[in-house]
Amino acid sequence: EVMKEVYDIRSMEQRLKNVLQLDEVHIVPGDSDNYSWVKKEMGRTCVSLMKKNLTGGDNILAVTGGTSIAAVADMVTPDNGLKDVLFVPARGGLGEQVENQANSICATMARKAMGKYRLLFVPDQLSKESYKSLNEEPSVKEILQLIRSANMVIHGVGEAHVMAERRNSSREVLEKLSKDNAVAEAFGYYFNQSGDIIHKVFSIGIQLEDLPVIPTIITVAGGASKARAIQAYLKHGPGQILVTDEGAAQAILQTN
Ligand code: F6P
Repeated sequence: EVMKEVYDIRSMEQRLKNVLQLDEVHIVPGDSDNYSWVKKEMGRTCVSLMKKNLTGGDNILAVTGGTSIAAVADMVTPDNGLKDVLFVPARGGLGEQVENQANSICATMARKAMGKYRLLFVPDQLSKESYKSLNEEPSVKEILQLIRSANMVIHGVGEAHVMAERRNSSREVLEKLSKDNAVAEAFGYYFNQSGDIIHKVFSIGIQLEDLPVIPTIITVAGGASKARAIQAYLKHGPGQILVTDEGAAQAILQTN
């Protein structure tokens, strides 16, 4: 029984890898929409991939916010390979609650890994003018440089409307997202089903165009409810390694 299940998961990973055109897909059993332990298992899988892909030298690991990446942080344990890592938030000010902010997650990971961290303090909902002047601040510039030179990024993907509501986005933004059929969100960018960017939250830190040069990008997202979002983001969004669950995997494979 158990062997058959393992076999099924392995064959799903292969199929999903082809459908989504990724280098690696890791599926944990279950559906995180229904059971919170499934999200924890995705976290555990991501931590082992993190350790495997960080090779000696000065590593900078950038993380986004959200509950999936918070689950990754929960699973971090001290490790020789992690203690020289510098943890940084990928982007600042995306309107999450404190415990799900990239800053908090970054600090938790560093503490558990016994590594170092730097934070990025940016208020939410910045005007374009303040965004520009903040970008010129020497202390901000310094950390932005570190963030941009990250050699690993671990990030979440969400459903567009769920994220827009969670961030208390303005009515204009909500209307624009529904008019343009937004389905996915990642890094503060909203995407339609074809993977085109239809809206972007102004903030500093990693921009989508910075991603292609980052050697390792791990996407952590699961739950059948996120099936469309995961596919939409990965249409153009640079991703190589996906950590997901059976719920999302089954839902994606059914429509392909
Ligand atoms: O707001 C940060 C973020 O990483 C978003 O880019 C993403 O859509 C969301 O969190 C995912 O959150 P969760 O893992 O809680 O679904």
